[in-house]
Amino acid sequence: MERTLIILKPDAVQRGLIGQILIRFENKGLQIVGMKLMQISTKLAETHYEPHRGKPFYSGLVKFMTSSPVVVLAIEGRDAIAICRKMMGATFGSKAEPGTIRGDFGVSNSFNLIHGSDSPESAQRELGLFFQAGELLEWQPASRGWVYDLSKGQPE
Ligand code: RTP
Ligand code: MG
Repeated sequence: MERTLIILKPDAVQRGLIGQILIRFENKGLQIVGMKLMQISTKLAETHYEPHRGKPFYSGLVKFMTSSPVVVLAIEGRDAIAICRKMMGATFGSKAEPGTIRGDFGVSNSFNLIHGSDSPESAQRELGLFFQAGELLEWQPASRGWVYDLSKGQPE
């Protein structure tokens, strides 16, 4: 099982899309193990997007991410990182395929609704930035045995 950090960005929250985006992860069978509404500080946004420091869009990105509340999620599932990235779609709303979150809900390149960790290393780093250990819950969804084939002991 893998965990990934998802952020519903300020544009998603302001546009009232929290529910419509969350339902896609639930419908897919992914499990929410952490969730909160928060205002990101400049320091946290800078640290989160540290790998992009120095790029032309960096300061605008930090300003955008701190401009209004966001919803941060820790999502768990088999191959959760890659699955969530696929569900999000390409970075720019103008390029993202229909059927993806960015493709279905936006047209903007910088206001692109959602962040998702791009690798196991990023996921671990980013989950640590946004959640305290006690805020991530271990719980058994009642549906687990129907979302996954557990007959061989491992979720398949
Ligand atoms: P994210 O980190 O937010 O999940 O997005 P991503 O992996 O798809 O894209 P990334 O390359 O990591 O870029 C981070 C965010 O920076 C903004 N961006 N603007 N104007 C530009 O050329 C540009 N490039 C990136 C986007 O908001 C992107 O989500
Ligand atoms: Mg990224």
